[in-house]
Amino acid sequence: MRATARAQPNIALIKYWGKRDGNRNLPAVGSISVTLDELFTTMHVELDGALDLDELHVNGRKSPGLLPRVTQCLDSVLGTDRLRARVISESNFPIAAGLASSASSFAALVVAASAAGGRERTTHELARLAGAASGSAARSLYGGFVELRNDGDSIAVQTILDGESWPMRVIAAVTSTAPKPVSSGEAMEASRKTSPFYARWVEEQDSDLSTARDAITARDFGKLASIAEHNCLKMHSVMWASRPPVVYWNAATIACLERVRQLQADGAAAFFTIDAGPQVKVVCLPGDESQVAEALSNTPGVESVLASGIGAGAALMNGD
Ligand code: PMV
Repeated sequence: MRATARAQPNIALIKYWGKRDGNRNLPAVGSISVTLDELFTTMHVELDGALDLDELHVNGRKSPGLLPRVTQCLDSVLGTDRLRARVISESNFPIAAGLASSASSFAALVVAASAAGGRERTTHELARLAGAASGSAARSLYGGFVELRNDGDSIAVQTILDGESWPMRVIAAVTSTAPKPVSSGEAMEASRKTSPFYARWVEEQDSDLSTARDAITARDFGKLASIAEHNCLKMHSVMWASRPPVVYWNAATIACLERVRQLQADGAAAFFTIDAGPQVKVVCLPGDESQVAEALSNTPGVESVLASGIGAGAALMNGD
């Protein structure tokens, strides 16, 4: 009746932005990400007949604001006639600030909840359940370089290449830990409904996915860098052109981009990507990590720098 799972956030190199079905949370476009290893969320789920309502504790605090999405996810995994649950979530990185904590949280939640309820589920089924809660969470069920595709009226997720086959480091420059002003879900809807660039974004995504997939299987860093930066800037352009506009960046975000351009000019194998928040994630080859981390740490407005390699998908933890 209880289980604990751990999942790592993932960072999209080719972004998911926009929904084709809001009710079932199906993405309008496919995406490619890397699953991290050193950053993680641990989720403990305990089903308890004595509880009248679900309870959620995030990093040691009761979090009623986040509870409705957790309750909905538990219902989808265990059915609405389930026992109520005590859910304890701990992340070792800032949550709700564009570091994909919803991905690691919901990936770990579906794994822990299934096990607590005694349900046997394939990774594929767990990915679909996680994706219904948070689109990007489906990718955290898998490790390495991961592709999510639209598959009929559902999604299909798979590892394209494992992390050991092409080791990389991801350095996240944290420029603010304040909660984001607009959720990614609301911002996606604003883009879909009002951005003049949205249709073009959706139209071009298959070509970006295929370029990135080829770059990954050929281990062509320059090709992956170029398509990932392009795809990221295109996604932000879509949201900037929405009405009202959605701008997640701050001054330090731009300072980091300039820093990455300098590093590239100095010969570093590094590229940037930015999600629904002001943090800048720089992907680099291991030999360039210390140079990248130092340059980002010294950039005005950067509060802290977190580093991670590429890791495995969500898993149950032993001993529970
Ligand atoms: O999974 P969500 O609903 O939080 O959306 C994630 C959107 C981006 O992080 C901006 C892109 C992505 O593919 O992860």
